[in-house]
Amino acid sequence: METRRSFIKKGVIIGAAVCLPAAIGRESLASYPDLKTRHPKKALVLWYSQTGQTSRYARLIGCILKDRGLAVDVRDMQEFDKNGLANYDLIVVGTPTFYYDTPDNVRDWLQAIPLIPGTPVAAFVSFGGPEGNQHNAATHILKLLIEKGGVPVGRDAFRNIPSYPTPKWNTANQISGQHLPNAATYDQVRRFAADVLERITRGQTIAVGYEIALREGLRVLPLIWLNKKAISKHTVDAGKCIGCQTCVKKCPTKAINPSRQTVDRDKCLACFGCLNNCPADAVVMEYRGERLYGFPEYLRRNKIVILEPPEFKACKL
Ligand SMILES: Cc1cc2nc3c(=O)[nH]c(=O)nc-3n(C[C@H](O)[C@H](O)[C@H](O)COP(=O)(O)O)c2cc1C
Ligand code: SF4
Ligand code: SF4
Repeated sequence: METRRSFIKKGVIIGAAVCLPAAIGRESLASYPDLKTRHPKKALVLWYSQTGQTSRYARLIGCILKDRGLAVDVRDMQEFDKNGLANYDLIVVGTPTFYYDTPDNVRDWLQAIPLIPGTPVAAFVSFGGPEGNQHNAATHILKLLIEKGGVPVGRDAFRNIPSYPTPKWNTANQISGQHLPNAATYDQVRRFAADVLERITRGQTIAVGYEIALREGLRVLPLIWLNKKAISKHTVDAGKCIGCQTCVKKCPTKAINPSRQTVDRDKCLACFGCLNNCPADAVVMEYRGERLYGFPEYLRRNKIVILEPPEFKACKL
């Protein structure tokens, strides 16, 4: 049986051929509005996160900014009122990399925000590797913020344990990323936050452009659609479901209805948020006939404990 990896690999060649030329030489020389302040007092770190990696980095960034004297809010973007963005002197947005890009729901959310002229903005992504075009997903977020008048002051990508489920969770990629994030990852996050602040103080911006990467080509493929075709079963086991509504809260498109055991396959983005967050193993998903199990169960079976940054002991964000 063809694995998901080989299935996707086939697409890379076509995708790269179509897309690579477009990814080359797109470094932006744009000029931006004046920064609204070089002495930020209030920062917002917004995150979208399915399995906790991105929100962990967001909290750490918040802790670093707080330690430098800023008032900081760290919020789930799905619960944040977009009209509140004008209250901040710095906006940092973080998301996972899904299907080689920014998740569709995050893109839609950012396209709908009001103007934020002159506000310093920074973007980061978490990703499960292998390293490739993930910086371009962060660039994508930054460009959406720039379209709204934001001024780019930072961009980065942090690698960690992947949350993309496969029937046995034993691909080379899954195994090689199991020990991440580590101390070096958190140092990278600290540097990112410190650099963002320093650039604002100096009135500096960063260049925003897509980088050359073979995986960039995969963005043009209908990966979500292809994976949805390969998901042969997606329902809820009424016998196991405890009615906690976690899947409903995590689903970015309101596609799942656990009380009716249904999933609206048209709305579903194949993000695995329901499977990866169900505490009762009640979300039934099969990939080409093979049962998938979620991220918490994967951690439990492999005795994986994700490292927390030491800052969290004192910093309560
Ligand atoms: C649906 C899905 C698609 C993914 N696609 C990619 C990808 O294209 N590239 C990558 O490096 N990681 C990919 N990953 C791994 C995630 O980016 C990574 O696990 C991320 O840190 C999860 O963040 P979260 O815990 O905040 O949800 C994917 C994970 C999922 C669930
Ligand atoms: S139903 Fe689909 S879109 Fe909703 S959380 Fe599950 S996989 Fe994601
Ligand atoms: S997360 Fe799991 S247990 Fe909770 S309502 Fe959804 S399917 Fe049921």
